[in-house]
Amino acid sequence: MSTVVNINGRIFHKNNAFVSVFDRGFLFGDSVFEVVRTYGKDKIFAFDMHLERLYKSAAFISLKLAGRKYIEKLIRDTIRKGNNRESYVRLVITRGIGREIGMNPDYAIKPNYFVIVKNFDPPPADINKRCIKAAIASVRRNFKDSLNPLIKSGNYLNNVLAHIDAMKKGGVEAVMINPQGYVAEGTTFNVFMVKKGVYYTPPLEAGILDGITRKVILKLMKENGIRYAEKSIKPAELMSADEVFFTSTLREIQPVVSINNRKIGNGKAGLFTARLYEIFARNISRFLS
Ligand SMILES: Cc1ncc(COP(=O)(O)O)c(C=O)c1O
Repeated sequence: MSTVVNINGRIFHKNNAFVSVFDRGFLFGDSVFEVVRTYGKDKIFAFDMHLERLYKSAAFISLKLAGRKYIEKLIRDTIRKGNNRESYVRLVITRGIGREIGMNPDYAIKPNYFVIVKNFDPPPADINKRCIKAAIASVRRNFKDSLNPLIKSGNYLNNVLAHIDAMKKGGVEAVMINPQGYVAEGTTFNVFMVKKGVYYTPPLEAGILDGITRKVILKLMKENGIRYAEKSIKPAELMSADEVFFTSTLREIQPVVSINNRKIGNGKAGLFTARLYEIFARNISRFLS
């Protein structure tokens, strides 16, 4: 089991992986990133979808990336070197070191590519053992017109502030509300609820990341004839839902048992959440490469 870091094609032990203080990723959060995980030693979940989102994020910030082959090789080489049973993989691409310290992106010499690979302990197979508590953060999700949450950029201060706020409120995870007062997403996950047997999740227009797990789940629901809708959700609706769960690459599907210390449903993983997780688990192998 080891943590290794690839920097522009050279792999380092975690203690020897350094970045310049003049890198614009460090100075301004001027970077994009993706987090993927492996199932087993080297099979990556929804890799194509993650790469597609990476290129979209880069286009949003006018960052021109190397070709897919180069990026894929960086990731696969690093996973191999890490040699973990299952891996957490974080790809970060910064605009690079600037000739000058300043906003002008033309100061950047060339992008820097980083891949961090470490051992990943998957969430328990038993959905009942995944339950968590949440709180609604007072910190609002960024305005789409300021820093669009569709961009998976290295600037996560909005999310860090929401997490700090939720911790103060006694919740472990923060749900963020958009500037219009509707549920957006969590700090590192998308939000779903179940009401009267129907699954609901906020639409992309709510100002959220186009989560890959969310996307896979919507596809599976469609394929299986499950009733769902993407719709704007008020915080009060979320808190009075029959079931709430979070989704992300690392969490897969995670039941939420309380929000702001108010019980959701019967305070346990709900049946609809469990049923969806079964479908998800059964289909994972289709998305591995
Ligand atoms: C803000 C935010 N929303 C949602 C997600 C879930 O996305 P995915 O399912 O692609 O992991 C993440 C993942 O890191 C995230 O950072």
